Amino acid sequence: MAERIVAASDHAGLALRAEAVKAAQARGFLVEDLGPFSAESVDYPEFARLVGERVARGEARFGLLVCGTGIGMSIAANKVPGVRAALCTSEFEARMSRAHNDANVLCLGQRVVGAGLGTAIVAAFLAEPFEGGRHARRVDLIKALEK
Ligand code: RB5
Repeated sequence: MAERIVAASDHAGLALRAEAVKAAQARGFLVEDLGPFSAESVDYPEFARLVGERVARGEARFGLLVCGTGIGMSIAANKVPGVRAALCTSEFEARMSRAHNDANVLCLGQRVVGAGLGTAIVAAFLAEPFEGGRHARRVDLIKALEK
């Protein structure tokens, strides 16, 4: 069965979210897009919460969040227990966030990366497995910070 991704953005991330969703679908993921679906100004923490909670509850394998810089989304998503959100501006960061940090939410900034790099970051994130081993111990220490 296809793995599920839940995606959202704010008004400043609409265009890149659309491209990122297509990139994930092209890699066989089932993407649930939570919007928004108009250009009206919205508050990114509300969308970060929706996506973060879905991921934390195990209802989606990964989350994908886009705002203007990706910063607000990553700050907000990382407040949700169980979320390890990574703001990535390169394919290298995307690979490392999966391999070493077992990131489960990818954050992108539409005002920072264009569609070409943005979708390459999505592909790199989705393709990279978590390495485990010593990194699992460190991720467990991150989880312990939530208690
Ligand atoms: C919206 O103008 C902008 O602040 C938001 O998209 C994001 O960049 C916040 O971190």
